[in-house]
Amino acid sequence: MIIPSRNRRLRTNASIRALVQETILTTNDFVMPIFVMEGENLQEPIPSMPGIFRRSIDLTVKECKELFSLGIRGVNLYMKVSENLKDNKGTEAWNKNGLMQNTIKAIKDAVPEMIVMPDVALDPYSVYGHDGIITNGKIDNDATNEALVKMAISLAEAGADVMAPSDMMDGRVAAIRAGLEENGFTDVAILSYAAKYASSFYGPFRSALDSAPKENTDIPKDKKTYQMDFHNSREALDEVYKDVAEGADIIMIKPGLPYLDIVSKVREAIDLPIAVYNVSGEYAMLKAATQNGWLDNDKAVIESLTCIKRAGADMIFTYAAKEAAILLNG
Ligand code: PBG
Repeated sequence: MIIPSRNRRLRTNASIRALVQETILTTNDFVMPIFVMEGENLQEPIPSMPGIFRRSIDLTVKECKELFSLGIRGVNLYMKVSENLKDNKGTEAWNKNGLMQNTIKAIKDAVPEMIVMPDVALDPYSVYGHDGIITNGKIDNDATNEALVKMAISLAEAGADVMAPSDMMDGRVAAIRAGLEENGFTDVAILSYAAKYASSFYGPFRSALDSAPKENTDIPKDKKTYQMDFHNSREALDEVYKDVAEGADIIMIKPGLPYLDIVSKVREAIDLPIAVYNVSGEYAMLKAATQNGWLDNDKAVIESLTCIKRAGADMIFTYAAKEAAILLNG
């Protein structure tokens, strides 16, 4: 019998496979999320994220130099804020001399070409561990937007290149865009977390920053009134279209690996660059399996990141950025 066409012909050897490869992962695809804390010459491991540390500003700068020399062009910043600086409004978030502002200045001084993308959200600064200000026991959308605008302007003054609002309040992209324009920051871009789901995969991140919603209060204990319901898919497109209309430059989908159907759907729908967040819980799962010898770490890291790109990501926020860059550089 004659088989009319044989797909295996183009898989015969490594050279022919290389010629027909559709998706090529490079270090230009990565953004490294970084955790920063007060102090000097300090580095603390995060137990649920093997290989990831919280560092003081000096060691963060050193790390950024190393990341840049490996080919990584972007960092996403998160602060571990002291409990005594937290309040309901997240006031510390727009302190000109705050930890975030000083970190941005130090990185831009030392590695000016590194694209610095601070997280714009109140949760690490909130006594309640929420991304929103609480008024009468509820998340106050519009008051939160005003705070986010103040925060964004202060981060732009410190020298940040890209604002990364991760809070999921309605209308905050338009508000932040207007605030930046009015203050002369016309070149500062907005990477909007447009479709961010209320996910259990953020657990290790919240323990890294001590930023989980507090349990012992009568305010909401989860983020379901602002982050999306994971049962929904069409709603993601609606969120994305609104953020595009409000002036977002880059659209984020989060989490990554369990949500690649959403990535591929958004890829078909819009032409703006798409960022995908390979979140802390995805990283923790991979490390748990590889540390037990149940998966091959290097192969699983490269495969999962390549699959995120194949689904439609132009850039990937991933805690595995550094190790993947080392692997790709050979
Ligand atoms: C909070 C924020 C979270 C992450 C990034 N920004 C957690 C949350 O929404 O509770 C999660 C990142 C990760 O899990 O890697 N604004």
